[in-house]
Amino acid sequence: MIKVVATIVELKEELGYYRNNGKSIGFVPTMGALHQGHISLVERCRAENDVTVVSIFVNPTQFNDKNDLKNYPRMPEKDVALLEQAGANIVFVPDEKEIYPEPDTRVFDFGMLDKVMEGKFRPGHFNGVAQVVSKLFDIVNPHRAYFGLKDYQQLAIIRAMVKMLGYGVEVIGCPIVRETDGLAMSSRNLLLSAEHRKSAPLIYRTLSEARNKKGEFSVKELIAWVESRINSDPNLRVEYFELADADTLEPVESWEHQNGIVGCIAVWAGNIRLIDNTMFKE
Ligand code: PAJ
Repeated sequence: MIKVVATIVELKEELGYYRNNGKSIGFVPTMGALHQGHISLVERCRAENDVTVVSIFVNPTQFNDKNDLKNYPRMPEKDVALLEQAGANIVFVPDEKEIYPEPDTRVFDFGMLDKVMEGKFRPGHFNGVAQVVSKLFDIVNPHRAYFGLKDYQQLAIIRAMVKMLGYGVEVIGCPIVRETDGLAMSSRNLLLSAEHRKSAPLIYRTLSEARNKKGEFSVKELIAWVESRINSDPNLRVEYFELADADTLEPVESWEHQNGIVGCIAVWAGNIRLIDNTMFKE
């Protein structure tokens, strides 16, 4: 039976039992409205740890848009049922006061990592992510924590934060899970109108085609090609498409770049913002 706990005291008590018995603790932080992308992290976590803890908390400090926070899908009962089915052991569902008994005023310095792409278009977003994930790491104190490559820049931020704060947690990045039409799974897909949902697969289709066009185009030309192809659908508008260093996330100038290259994109489908990414060079 899955155990649902809402308080830090109760969670620590529960985890203490496992820890004292030398069990490894794996952790999957989420904001709920769970789909197969989240479940893939839970399955990996289960395979590699004795106990799997999942948190569901829609973290207000990472939302730079009030309406996005208000409209974020919430379905706690369905989530718990899915987690139970997936074999998670504990689900932590704190309320806002539990996580933020007082406002979190910490400001993290991630250098360039949070100045580009998502960091540029969603000011304060990654600071909020670092606030909540550091608090959750303090509470759960896991051996391993699982994050999706769907949020490529978030994973880079978490790795930097773990280094900066000296956490002893192993951070594991997991592959992007997609719908059969290629659209990256996301809780926000539920908010798309039927028409926008129909258009959305063009995002990944274009990224995949672009990967095969490296020989034909310069970096700059390829960026323009991707943007114009997606923008040709009136339901979609590209906010940015960047070809970036796989580690520093700074924009690359040419295909001869010495390190891996990741292509990251954000697209508005109506008033819903979708992100995706794929590797252009390993
Ligand atoms: P959320 O968007 O709920 O995502 C929780 C985790 O699931 C993240 O690590 C995310 O990258 C992963 N994920 C989402 N969609 C995925 C997909 N299609 N394939 C693989 N993994 C996927 O990311 C957050 O919540 C929050 O920022 C959080 C880290 C919980 C902090 O509040």
